[in-house]
Amino acid sequence: MKVIGGSASRKLSKNIAKELGCDYVEAEVKTFPDGEKYVRIPEKVENEVVVVVQTTYPNENLIEMLLLLDSARRWGAKRIIGVIPYFSYARQDKIFKEGEAVSAEILAKIFSMHMDFFATVDIHNPEILRWMNIPAENVYATEPLSEYLNRYNIDVVISPDKGSVERGRRVAEKLGAEWDYLEKKRIDGMNVEIKPRKLDVEGKRVAIVDDIISTGGTIVESSKQLKAQGAEFVVAGCVHGVFAANAIERMVPYVKDVFCSDTIEREQSKYSVAKPIALTIQRWL
Ligand code: R5P
Repeated sequence: MKVIGGSASRKLSKNIAKELGCDYVEAEVKTFPDGEKYVRIPEKVENEVVVVVQTTYPNENLIEMLLLLDSARRWGAKRIIGVIPYFSYARQDKIFKEGEAVSAEILAKIFSMHMDFFATVDIHNPEILRWMNIPAENVYATEPLSEYLNRYNIDVVISPDKGSVERGRRVAEKLGAEWDYLEKKRIDGMNVEIKPRKLDVEGKRVAIVDDIISTGGTIVESSKQLKAQGAEFVVAGCVHGVFAANAIERMVPYVKDVFCSDTIEREQSKYSVAKPIALTIQRWL
């Protein structure tokens, strides 16, 4: 078995290979002058089980993943396990307004045509995997995320919207902390409104836990409420650090720490999802 690392997920791929005790092969990736991608798996993987790892954000990494899968198939790999640590376009998982495309569905269907098994991490909505007609698993980052949070002796874990309540509850359970949630209304791409809600956070150490931090709007508005209600401090943790535009600068005045996993490799990647991914792969071997 070999783990092939795409350019968006090299560190994580190496760590997955380490966890699995197998070879890591770095994909050759070039960009042509017009922006198009060239991809090559430089080692023979004929009749091998290959694990192709590549986050699909931003867009060019999505194309790279498709090319990597094609290269693995052309080598004659015995089985292709596709791992997309951060599955982009997952938030459009239904039609909100007539005439829209459902990006999560079309991508799930395309990927499943080019792999035999699929794993992703904390996908925005696990129901998306139903569109893939192959064994597909949503791996949870709960364990390593909670391990990182241990250093803060957190009293309360807050989910910034109802959709992430389950994640917050699981993390709180691991930490032996309380948990609660806020209710969010999105105004536009950059701004959200958090409904005022009385929370028991006076003098407490609080962690906001979400799947994605994109513009940071959700964290900023949630932290404002938590601070106004007397929280001792607030830290903000997520699985996927998209950090669009000036998200970090926006959040810094309100939180003691902002951190994410290595599904998107960032300066703020403070914990790794290599272990839970490797455990899932091992079950398929
Ligand atoms: C939305 O449903 C997600 O779970 C996140 O809460 C959202 O993507 C965060 O976005 P932003 O950082 O732009 O507020």
